[in-house]
Amino acid sequence: MRKKIVAGNWKMNNDLQETETLLDEILATKPEFTTAKIVVAPGFVNLQAAVAKTHNSNIIVAAQNMHQAESGAYTGEVSADMLKGIKVNTVILGHSERRAYFGETNALLAEKVTTALKHNFTVIFCFGEELADRQSSNHFNLVESQIREGLFHIPQAEWNNIVLAYEPVWAIGTGETASPEQAQEMHAFIRNLLKEVSAEVAENTSILYGGSVKPANAKEIFSKPDVDGGLIGGASLKASDFLEIVKGIE
Ligand code: G3H
Repeated sequence: MRKKIVAGNWKMNNDLQETETLLDEILATKPEFTTAKIVVAPGFVNLQAAVAKTHNSNIIVAAQNMHQAESGAYTGEVSADMLKGIKVNTVILGHSERRAYFGETNALLAEKVTTALKHNFTVIFCFGEELADRQSSNHFNLVESQIREGLFHIPQAEWNNIVLAYEPVWAIGTGETASPEQAQEMHAFIRNLLKEVSAEVAENTSILYGGSVKPANAKEIFSKPDVDGGLIGGASLKASDFLEIVKGIE
């Protein structure tokens, strides 16, 4: 049975104090009663504080990125060991903002995934088409190549540490959401693609939807059979909205 997951990607928002306040607000609502896994991804410099805050809770703290090398002369980068050293074992890789603004390619992401899995991370692997791809009906091909090139090199046994996040770029931060039917159509396509790895991987891999998920639309999107939760940007910065979205999966 695959997991239901709601993850908040805080992107480059929240200083230390804001990080702690937001976590206090989330924790005050007793999120341990939810059946979904809750993940939050603050900025690097606030990860340690977030781990300390969430220590006795069921909230999982994730990093938003990670370098593929073990260590070395990579100024400004963060390694798997650095994250593990502060008890962060989950990482978001391949977010469209990393792909678009920092030149992350499928080949580079394949390396990052290999490193993360070698260190026993859970990887939330993001991908999704741009508006032009959808308009030219290239969205299925594009998503297929992102998944094939980024993930199909990993051994079948390691897929239980992979969570997928379909995020159509045209829906990120725009207020425009994929319709529940569009999300379901793509998620079903992805699950079918995963059958090439194995029937179990297809059945057991959680596929999240991301892109302008809000309290008002979460429940309907999450009700679709192949949508196993969400990766939330803007709405994860407000505790009440984020928790309302979490409730949408129950
Ligand atoms: O990682 C999260 C996504 O980029 C979605 O962001 O909810 O602000 O559209 P958004």
